[in-house]
Amino acid sequence: MSIPTHQTALFVQELRGAWKVSSTDVPKPGPGEILIRVEAASLNPVDWKIQMYGVAVTIFPAILGSDSAGTVVEVGEGVTRVAVGDRVLHQGYYHNRIATFQQYTVANEKRVAKIPPKLSFDQAAAIPVALSAAAFGLYGTKVQQGGAGLTAPWREGGRGKYAGQPIVVLGGASSVGQYVIQLAKVSGFSPIITTVSPHNNDLVTALGATHPVDRALPLSELKAITSEPISVVFDAVSSAETQRAGYDLLAPGGTLVLVLDPVGSLGAGEKEGRSVISTYATVHVETNREIGEEMYEHLEAFLESGDLKPNLVEVVPGGLASIPEAFERMKKNQVSGQKLVVRPTESA
Ligand SMILES: NC(=O)c1ccc[n+]([C@@H]2O[C@H](COP(=O)([O-])OP(=O)(O)OC[C@H]3O[C@@H](n4cnc5c(N)ncnc54)[C@H](OP(=O)(O)O)[C@@H]3O)[C@@H](O)[C@H]2O)c1
Repeated sequence: MSIPTHQTALFVQELRGAWKVSSTDVPKPGPGEILIRVEAASLNPVDWKIQMYGVAVTIFPAILGSDSAGTVVEVGEGVTRVAVGDRVLHQGYYHNRIATFQQYTVANEKRVAKIPPKLSFDQAAAIPVALSAAAFGLYGTKVQQGGAGLTAPWREGGRGKYAGQPIVVLGGASSVGQYVIQLAKVSGFSPIITTVSPHNNDLVTALGATHPVDRALPLSELKAITSEPISVVFDAVSSAETQRAGYDLLAPGGTLVLVLDPVGSLGAGEKEGRSVISTYATVHVETNREIGEEMYEHLEAFLESGDLKPNLVEVVPGGLASIPEAFERMKKNQVSGQKLVVRPTESA
């Protein structure tokens, strides 16, 4: 496959500025890096939050997007884990060389996983960020922007280790919540109690939830489902209400994992014998490097075996130009139980 010198990308033009599709250079992979032709990129809430609130990114025009699945088209010096032609998924980051709302992107070979043949690029693109939030939140080191410090199922003694222990997943139908449920199952947790809109009961039950509960009910009612102490609550919603309720459900010594910053009155860190951790779903920071690279090493096997299944996806037609309108649907909470995916190669 010949590699063009220019490609199409979606830019945020300035701080809180408008989106614009335009042409840019195709990046070159350095040592240990690979160039990926992005066949599918999925949309995450953080992407529109960066554009709307002007957070996280300071250099403009900026390419956003951090979920990708594609084909390796070039390898840099010293690359051994993957080869040209391999189908891979990976998490990019908010620097133009490695972001994913573009047709070609660069990745470190240690932070990609091969895609099993049974999965499409569209399905694979829905995995990295949401899975990272779940996996790093559960198995990351117990520090702020780390995780609950549990033993990952790919480590010795990790699979099934938490048998008989309950876990609560607030927002089980969210992209993150779906992976938390699946990992909790592999880790042995039981019961797996989760809050969803009732139309998502079957979805989360198929993933391993044992007790789907209507999210409209008072969250204090979840306590009655188990007589065992609840040592882990994963709040995949992290609104002020769910954070406080999740904290109240915890047994002394337990950990509340958040996907957003803690609300003021809750605070972070150890409190009343309970820990509150905000996870940061990227392998690109030092805190998550080890757990993240391990996860990518084992991910193909977990997908192949079916221990991990991708979120349901909806492919939004029109390539990169269709992303801003798709974000409007996400902002209005019009997307439920599935991930929106675009194919950058459909862009002009
Ligand atoms: N810390 C990080 O690095 C990181 C990484 C990824 C995501 N996040 C954050 O995590 C949050 C979730 O992201 P996502 O991609 O998983 O979102 P998503 O897939 O768009 O989540 C949408 C789902 O959330 C569920 N939901 C919303 N409010 C709820 C509530 N009060 N109770 C129960 N379920 C509720 C809804 O489920 P029903 O349809 O069943 O109602 C909806 O389907 C976002 O705020 C995102 O910014 C953070």
